[in-house]
Amino acid sequence: IRSDLRMSWAGTSKRLFDVPRTADANKGLYGHVLVIGGAWGKPGAPSMSSLAALRAGAGLMTAAVPERILPQVASIAPELMTVPLAEGPEGEIAAANLEPKRLEALLTRKTVLALGPGMGQSEETEAFVLGLLEKTAENKDLALVLDADALNIVARHKDKLRGAGRTLVLTPHPGEMGRLAGMSTREVQADREGLARRFAEEHQVTLVLKGWRTLIAHPDGSLAINTTGNPGMAKGGSGDILTGIVAGCVAQFPTQVREAVEAAVYLHGLAADFAVREQNEHTLLATDTIAHLHRAFGFSA
Ligand code: APR
Ligand code: MG
Repeated sequence: IRSDLRMSWAGTSKRLFDVPRTADANKGLYGHVLVIGGAWGKPGAPSMSSLAALRAGAGLMTAAVPERILPQVASIAPELMTVPLAEGPEGEIAAANLEPKRLEALLTRKTVLALGPGMGQSEETEAFVLGLLEKTAENKDLALVLDADALNIVARHKDKLRGAGRTLVLTPHPGEMGRLAGMSTREVQADREGLARRFAEEHQVTLVLKGWRTLIAHPDGSLAINTTGNPGMAKGGSGDILTGIVAGCVAQFPTQVREAVEAAVYLHGLAADFAVREQNEHTLLATDTIAHLHRAFGFSA
């Protein structure tokens, strides 16, 4: 770690979860996460995000997905609530879901919106994402987590990236980061720290730049580095699970976004480090990480 960059260690933020819940706690204290994503053939991504948000401790969890894949997503956990979305010609999320009454019902009482997992980026879905960002721009009480195709869509409309006065978290892998910043993946990897800092400051967002040694850059330009995680995570689904953990952590600590996001990244990697001991880097599944989250939460650094 280069001292001139004054990087902190993401693990210190796990303190947030070292305090037990108060005895008289109720689910209303821990937020209501809404995951929007999925398309025909991709029920897994929103399912994994939803299950991870539940396991991370969100008070309530609703998944909104194209109606045809809804039964598959709903079956991931009985604790999950679901909302069917109107579909475009390819079974993707359609722009028709922007209809005011539908949208109002979808967003009422939600505290965190995680948008993007398994969504695709067709014209219909692009119109939906842009409309949704527009309509929620003034709703400062709704935190946003953008991942995967939501990032690829936003990369073509960077005017929509305005995090000032609200909570906006982006979780790109280096390829998605390259699209957001208008550069190649190689260029991203050549200066991860500098780029993450500049991008977070410019757009006033919390930026999680994934990969080995994930970086968390904050709107004030400060940076944390994560030391957990292993190459067994280099598999489809790992990122979808991180999205859910981030959303679940922000739901519980909406006024401590810095700590919540850093803790989420750290716990995700640590859970995978526990899981890989029972599997190995080849056989580890992304969902094994969810099954080991309790060990990460129970771990004292
Ligand atoms: N060491 C530590 N962590 C790792 C490593 C590694 N070697 N490799 C991957 N990870 C972690 C990353 O830090 C991140 O948290 O695993 C996660 C991978 O996230 P993604 O790259 O988003 O992967 P994935 O879940 O497969 O994404 C699914 O969605 O982002 C789109 O198009 C993309 O096909 C991809 C799909
Ligand atoms: Mg991903």
